[in-house]
Amino acid sequence: MIKHDVVVVGGGLAGMRAAVEAAEGGADVAIVSKMHPVRSHSGAAQGGINAALGNREDDSPENHAFDCVKGSDYLGDQDSIEAMAEDAPRQIVWLEHRGCIFSRLPDGRIAQRPFGGAGSPRTCYSADVTGLVILHTLWEQLERFGVKVYEEYFATALCVEDGVGTGVVAYNMRTGELELVTAKATIFATGGLGRVYAKTTNGYASTGDGMAIAYRAGIPLMDMEFVQFHPTSLKENGVLLSEAARGEGAYLLNSEGERFMFKYAPNKGELASRDVVSRAEWTEILEGRGIDGCVMLDLRHLGREKILERLPQIRELALDATGKDAIDSPIPILPGMHYAMGGIETDKFGATRIPGVYAAGEVACVSVHGANRLGGNSLLETIVFGARSAKHAVQYVKSVGSVRQSERTLRSERDRIDGILARTGGERHAQVRKKMNAVMSDNVFIFRKEDELTRAVEGLREVREAAKTMTVMDKSKTFNTDLVGLLETEFLVDVAQPIAFGALNRTESRGAQARVDYPDRDDEKWLVHSLMHYTGADPKPDYSRKVTFTKYKPEVRSY
Ligand code: FUM
Repeated sequence: MIKHDVVVVGGGLAGMRAAVEAAEGGADVAIVSKMHPVRSHSGAAQGGINAALGNREDDSPENHAFDCVKGSDYLGDQDSIEAMAEDAPRQIVWLEHRGCIFSRLPDGRIAQRPFGGAGSPRTCYSADVTGLVILHTLWEQLERFGVKVYEEYFATALCVEDGVGTGVVAYNMRTGELELVTAKATIFATGGLGRVYAKTTNGYASTGDGMAIAYRAGIPLMDMEFVQFHPTSLKENGVLLSEAARGEGAYLLNSEGERFMFKYAPNKGELASRDVVSRAEWTEILEGRGIDGCVMLDLRHLGREKILERLPQIRELALDATGKDAIDSPIPILPGMHYAMGGIETDKFGATRIPGVYAAGEVACVSVHGANRLGGNSLLETIVFGARSAKHAVQYVKSVGSVRQSERTLRSERDRIDGILARTGGERHAQVRKKMNAVMSDNVFIFRKEDELTRAVEGLREVREAAKTMTVMDKSKTFNTDLVGLLETEFLVDVAQPIAFGALNRTESRGAQARVDYPDRDDEKWLVHSLMHYTGADPKPDYSRKVTFTKYKPEVRSY
C-alpha cells in the first residue's frame, strides 16, 4: 500500500516544482506519473518564461500584472495575477541558483526577449528549449531530495472520504493492477487537454486526465471555453514553432508577401497577443490571402547566426517536417490548438473546493490567464503555482491527523475497469476519439457561432453515448496501452463537453472566445467565470463566481 503526506499527480514542471517545494518544506512527498517526468509535455515549451527581473527600468511586476490583465481580456482574477507577477523574479532566481542555464546578455545578466502582448521584453529563455532545460533542472532537484516517483502509474480516480481528499487510485501500467495511493494532500499537475482537437501542439499524453478526475469527483471546471490557438504551428504536423521567432523579429506574410499583422494590430504587429494574431491569420486565409490554406513565418532576415544561436530547435523542427530551411525559406504555418486557459477551479493558492486537493499548472484554473494567456506565462504559472500549492499543502498536512484509506474507491474503480475489459462488440476508442476530434475541430475553433456550437454540443452527446460502449482488443495486464488509450479517451470526452457548452452559453466575444454572432465584449453580463459541474451527462453550468478585481478597470483592448 502506497502512503505519503503529499502526492503530486503529474511529473511535468508544475508537478516537479510542487514536489521539490514540499520536500524542502519537510513533507514526505511522492509523484505519480504516467510517464517519466522528463518526458512530460512541459519539455515541448520553447520560447521562455516571463518575469520582470529588474534588468530594465521600463519594467516592473506591476507592468507585468497589467499586461496579463489586459491579455486576459479582463477575465483573469487580478489577485492571482498580481501574486504570479510579484513572485516571478524570485522564482527565476530560485531556478538559476539550482543550475538552470538561461541564455545571457554579454554582461552576464539573464537575457530577456519580447513576447506577444508584453509592454517590454521580459521573457527569460534558454535558446528555444526553455521547458526542457527547466525540466532537467527540476529533475536534478527531485533526485537531490530523493523524491519517490511512481512512474508509469496512471491515475484514474480521486479518493474522497468524509468530504476530504485522501489520494488517488492509480493503474500500475507495468502490472495491470489498480493501487491505492493514499495521501493527506493531493496536488494535480497533469497538464492540458490538447488531444481533444485533431491537430494540436500538445503531446499525445495531454488528455485532460487531472481535469476529468477532479470534475468527476465534484470539483467544477472553470472557463473551459477559452482555448488558445497558437499562431505558429507547423502546417504539416501541428508542431509548435515558438513565438520566440516573432520575438526575435520574424514576420508573418500572406500570399501577397504582405506583413499583414499591422492591419489588425497597428502598434504591436506580429507581437500582438495570441488570440489577436491567430484571428488575423485565419481572416487572411478565409479572405483568400492564404497560401495552400496557411500563411508564412519568415525568419530569413534574422540571419543564419541569430537563427542558429537563438532558434536552433525551430529551424530543425521546420526542416524535419517541411524540408525547408528557415535560414533561406519562409515556413508554412497555421494557428493550432495549444493551451487550455480553463481547468480545475482553484483559489489563488491552488486549493480546490475539496479540502486536501490542489491543482497547479495547465490542469488548474487559478485564473491568471482569463480569456487569453500571454506567451511565457505558462512556464511561469507552473513554477509559481507549483510552489505555492505545495507550500499551502504542506501547511494543510500539518493539520491532518490520520487519513482514511479509500478502499471503496479502489473497489469501484476495479469494478469499472473489469467491466470495460469484459465489454465486447462496441466501438473502438480510436474511432470515438476521431469523432470527438472532428466535432471539436469543425465546430469549436477560432471563430465560433451558435449553429456550429449547437452542432458541437449535440455531436458530443452522441460521442458520450458511443464512449460508453468502447472496447479494447487487448485484455492482458502488462503495459495494456489499449486500455490506457480508452481511459484517456473517456477523460477527453468529459473535458470536451464543458468547452463546447461554455462556448455556446457565453454570448459575447472575449479573448479566445470569438463569437461572430456576438462580436462585442459584454462586461455588463459576462465579467463572470464559467463553472461546469459534472453530472455524468451534460455539464451543469454555474455563473455565480465573479471576476476578482484589484485595481485594473476594464478598458478597450487593442494592440
Ligand atoms: O511559443 C512558445 O514558445 C510558447 C510559449 C508559451 O506557450 O508560453
